[in-house]
Amino acid sequence: MRIVTDPMSLRETLSDGLTVGFVPTMGYLHEGHLSLVEAAKRENDRVVMSIFVNPTQFGPNEDLDRYPRDFERDEQLAREAGVDVLFYPDTATMYPLDMARVTVRTGADVLCGASRPGHFDGVLTVVSKLFNLVRPTRAYFGLKDAQQVALIEGYVRDYFVPVEIIRCPIIREDSGLAKSSRNVYLSETERIDASDINRALIEARDALTEGVAITSVQERLVERLSAIPNSTIDYVELVDYPTLSHVTDSSTELLIAVAVQFERARLIDNTIWKRG
Ligand code: PAF
Repeated sequence: MRIVTDPMSLRETLSDGLTVGFVPTMGYLHEGHLSLVEAAKRENDRVVMSIFVNPTQFGPNEDLDRYPRDFERDEQLAREAGVDVLFYPDTATMYPLDMARVTVRTGADVLCGASRPGHFDGVLTVVSKLFNLVRPTRAYFGLKDAQQVALIEGYVRDYFVPVEIIRCPIIREDSGLAKSSRNVYLSETERIDASDINRALIEARDALTEGVAITSVQERLVERLSAIPNSTIDYVELVDYPTLSHVTDSSTELLIAVAVQFERARLIDNTIWKRG
């Protein structure tokens, strides 16, 4: 595995015309990330992973400074997983002038976008830079961040970016808790309690299949999540997927998405329900 920190060396390393599967990350790797590498390995000649904790996607009162980082551990996990090139730039490299950024026009006013203003502008800005640097054939994103996936797909269409976006399934612990770098902030008890989030989402999906009205499904979900001790609900929303707009009678896919705040960790999770 080659570790590359600057754009020139990256370009040189990737100049041989092989197909590239790209896995962008902010590090502190877990099985979710490694499953993206596995998918990328199956479908491409070479796998590039980036590790960059992107400051522009964190709000002023968010956890940028204490976002978990462990490059040595990440490097070893990436190597073992079969990553060919690990791109590990610093902030000055990624934002040489910071003169221009990407702005999201629709789809950022719901779910995480509503609670984290500017977050998705930061995500699309860095993803755009990374795509220009890596020029991947395919890029792999986990559906745990379903809103992120939808907005990246929208960006790629709007800017005619020559990359195929591959949606990958959420990876869960045996308890059902979605894998996340932020799970390290949970206490043992919170970790057990948090596994209720997945159960509540499954119940909501089943209720939609049984024909329960969307407002009732949402109410039940709120009730269910409110019962999780020592946590508060940030949002519980059902939106059309991947447009992220209001659900209508013609919506064929619904995203049921939640965010729950524990003492030191804000967890997001979701499930996609497909009509009949
Ligand atoms: O999903 C993430 O880890 C980040 O949002 C991404 C896509 C690497 C951009 O910083």
